[in-house]
Amino acid sequence: MVARPRTGDREKGNTVTTTDEVVRIDAGGWGLTWVADGDGVLRQVGLGTDGHRAELAFAAQWYPTAYPTWGGGDPYRPAALRVTHADGTLTTRLLLDSVERTAEADGEHVRVILRDDDVDLSVEIHSRTHPESTVLEQWVEIVHHEDGPVRLHDYHSIAPFLMVPEAAEVHQFVGGGWADEWRWTTCDLPPGTTDLASYGGLQPHLQMAPCLLVSPTGRTTETEGDVIGLSIAWGGNTHFGLDVRPRAEPDSPRELRLRAGANPAGAEYVLDPGARFTTPTVAWTWSSGGRGEVTTAMHRWTRARVLRDPDRMRPLVVNNWEATFFDFDERRIVDLIGRAADLGADLFLLDDGWFGTTRPRDDDTTSLGDWDPDPAKLPGGLGPLADAAAERDVRFGIWVEPEMVNPISDLHARHPEWVLRDRRQPRLHRHQLALDPLLPEVRAFVVEVVDRTLGAHPRISYVKWDANRPITDPGSRALAPDRQANVWVDHALATWQVMAEVARRHPEVELMLCASGGGRTDHGTLRYFHEVWTSDNTDPVTRVRMHWAFGHFFPAAVMAAHVTRWGDRPLAFACAVALSGRFGFDLDLAALTDDEAATCRRAVQVARRTQDLVQQGDLVRLVSPVEGADRSRAAWAHTAVDGRRAVLFAFQVEEPTGAGPNLRLEGLDPGSDYRVTAVDLASPDAPTTTRHTGAALGGAGLPWPLDQACTARLFEIEVL
Ligand code: DGJ
Repeated sequence: MVARPRTGDREKGNTVTTTDEVVRIDAGGWGLTWVADGDGVLRQVGLGTDGHRAELAFAAQWYPTAYPTWGGGDPYRPAALRVTHADGTLTTRLLLDSVERTAEADGEHVRVILRDDDVDLSVEIHSRTHPESTVLEQWVEIVHHEDGPVRLHDYHSIAPFLMVPEAAEVHQFVGGGWADEWRWTTCDLPPGTTDLASYGGLQPHLQMAPCLLVSPTGRTTETEGDVIGLSIAWGGNTHFGLDVRPRAEPDSPRELRLRAGANPAGAEYVLDPGARFTTPTVAWTWSSGGRGEVTTAMHRWTRARVLRDPDRMRPLVVNNWEATFFDFDERRIVDLIGRAADLGADLFLLDDGWFGTTRPRDDDTTSLGDWDPDPAKLPGGLGPLADAAAERDVRFGIWVEPEMVNPISDLHARHPEWVLRDRRQPRLHRHQLALDPLLPEVRAFVVEVVDRTLGAHPRISYVKWDANRPITDPGSRALAPDRQANVWVDHALATWQVMAEVARRHPEVELMLCASGGGRTDHGTLRYFHEVWTSDNTDPVTRVRMHWAFGHFFPAAVMAAHVTRWGDRPLAFACAVALSGRFGFDLDLAALTDDEAATCRRAVQVARRTQDLVQQGDLVRLVSPVEGADRSRAAWAHTAVDGRRAVLFAFQVEEPTGAGPNLRLEGLDPGSDYRVTAVDLASPDAPTTTRHTGAALGGAGLPWPLDQACTARLFEIEVL
């Protein structure tokens, strides 16, 4: 039953506007059906693999509302939208007005327009599908013509309704904050309302990745079961609300209302008549073939719709941060550049500490805002460093934190009024304050910081953009007293505006997104960047588990992974773990022993042979370090799209607990012979090579190769 244009329907270009009461969204293998009941209330009739083909089994009014509003029919549960209207009315009742379907060259855009005529407010639910993946993008736009501003208290982007058994579960990623991103946590769905939320506005994803896996029919594996993957593409605070209601009948499934979007806590938005409020996009997909399919869809969509230059190979980076912290001068950096070149790096990244004219940035207490090179450390400025890198055929990159200011800085002395704050004395965090991007002069300044740094040295071709504090004193001079809480949403939007402008002005410059580690890892902010600094926690033991979780939503090309001394693990193990992401080093190369230097050189050779697969191949997860009785090991592979090559990583993270599983890699050509080269980065011996058919690699597989904690094996697999 597909809605057909009828008499009275309008057609303009490739957009068809109808007043049909049935809306079907086909996201490719799964989807949604919404139907307006006799009163015009939009109801969710179908969701899931057959969701877009659902037929009414009973009268529409008995189905759950598609987008629940406060006072709109369910007084017992939290709503997706809660508004105080201009005249003080607290309730919102939306009825279907019309549906616009626009066929675009690369998918379909469906706009469902709902209206509350009593108060003159419209809510548009937007859905965007794509041919290359099953990811559905949805967001909501709110506009009104009431007699004065309205106040938006809750404004979720999606609010699907599901019936779930007791065995349903979610995998979420709430962690302890700094250095604890992407903590994999499996939870049941307890009755009541569960909030999974992040706070702080700046670097919110340090506490919780804005991503969620829901298994609505019970336990799942990589290849089996229903899994919904959701990602909130929002650089500010995010929220998943899981409202679960048991039913009185024994053993009957529970009702789950899932809300996702910006976290509205403390962020009531005052919206003027005629202005448009757009919620963040939630990108979500539904797999009936386990978590692997969710990952494939998310990766394809990220490459096609989000990531800048998805086909450009990311460089092998050497960063000086953990080698020197703030303690360096020109001689030391030039020496490190030479060592990076000797090692075979593509790019040298100069981190924090290079700037500060009247006060040197010798620690984190001063100089943010004074973006000229420190004349004591770098008397010749950045030029000699960029030149030294160019002479060795290494690219040069630079760290900036342009949204921030230390009170001890020339910038703060000149512009104390640029600080993001309320009337109180603002709190310091890492000795610094955030600038207020709602002020046009601050936005111009931030763009100019990057312009000036790059413009003065055309050889700088990479920028690490950091942000090392949350918002602690929300408020802005740019906002009237009655709309100070708008700052949470407007800050995120203004920051995107600045980032977009930087990306527009410097299309060739690669940008790493960092916020005390992975504090800004979301599919919205990523549109302006090439990669993220996944976490400051580079202990390879922790990283194996982080990579596992991160990889469910983002391709490895996005996941910067550097070899460091964190955790004091064997360097060969640290190298192997970093090789499974966008590879690099953050080591004092001058302090390596001969053995360690040899290990690093071997790792660089492996990177040269395998980074194309890691960065651009398909991820296949094999052995989980976060679930099951044995969490002591992990394995995954990156396979070429044509199945002719693969690289398989096996990690013995902790002391083994029993025999390891065989490594079965499906997806290769069963009839072809493959050469399998087993690389042990800890060994100077030549790697061993064996020969297997694709059928054997996917069948019996390779025996588990490791029996000691903090060891790794890489298998390079190539068709003969
Ligand atoms: C936090 C980042 O995560 C680190 O990698 C480093 O760049 C420091 N900031 C520098 O202050």
